[in-house]
Amino acid sequence: MPLQTTSKNGFVTPSQKGIVVWLFGLSGSGKTTISTLLKEKLEEGGFFAITLDGDVLREGINKDLGFSEADRAENIRRAAEIAKIMMMSNIITICSFITPLEQYRALAAQIIGEQYFEVFLDCPLAICKERDVKGLYKDADQNLISNFTGVSARFEPALNANLIIRTNTESPIQSRDKLFLEIISKINTRS
Ligand code: ADX
Repeated sequence: MPLQTTSKNGFVTPSQKGIVVWLFGLSGSGKTTISTLLKEKLEEGGFFAITLDGDVLREGINKDLGFSEADRAENIRRAAEIAKIMMMSNIITICSFITPLEQYRALAAQIIGEQYFEVFLDCPLAICKERDVKGLYKDADQNLISNFTGVSARFEPALNANLIIRTNTESPIQSRDKLFLEIISKINTRS
C-alpha cells in the first residue's frame, strides 16, 4: 500500500485525491479545533493536508476586507479560488470560515465543483457566547465591534451541508472521527 508515488519529473506526491472540506459555523463553533484535529489524523495516515482559516487569510491576502456582506462574499470567493488551486494539485484542503450566508456557500461550491464537501458546525449561539474564546462576543454585545455574526449580522442555517456536526453534544475527537470517515473514501486512491 504505497503512501506516495514518484512522478516522471522526480516529484514525490502522496497517493490521494484532492478535496476541499469547507467547515462553516459561528465564531466559537469549533471550526479551527476540528480542522486541526482532522489535519493531524490525515497526516498520521500518510495523507497531505493544509488548512485555510478566516483569521489567517484576513491577516494577509484578505487584509483589505471587512465584515460587510460584500466584503464577506469577496473573502469567501478568494478563499474558494485558493482552495480550488490546492485541490487541483491533489491537496486535501480544510477551510474554516464562518461563511454565514447560503449564497456564500453556494459560491464556494460553484467555484470548487465536485470535490467540495460542506460541513456545518452546528452549535447554539448561547454556547459559542459562553465559550467566547477570543472575547469578541463580549465586545460585540457592548457594540465595540459592528456586524458581528450572530449578534449584529445574520447567520443562515445550513440548507445543503454534506455533514452536520453538533460540537456542543459530542467531543472534538468524535466530531473529527465522524468527518474523517465521511471523507476517506473520497480521497483515498491507494490500492
Ligand atoms: S466570514 O464571515 O467572512 O466567513 P471569516 O471566517 O473570514 O468570516 O472571519 C471570521 C473571524 O474574524 C472570526 O473568527 C473573528 O475572529 C474575526 N472577526 C472580527 N470581526 C468580526 C465580525 N464582525 N464578525 C465575525 N467575525 C469577526
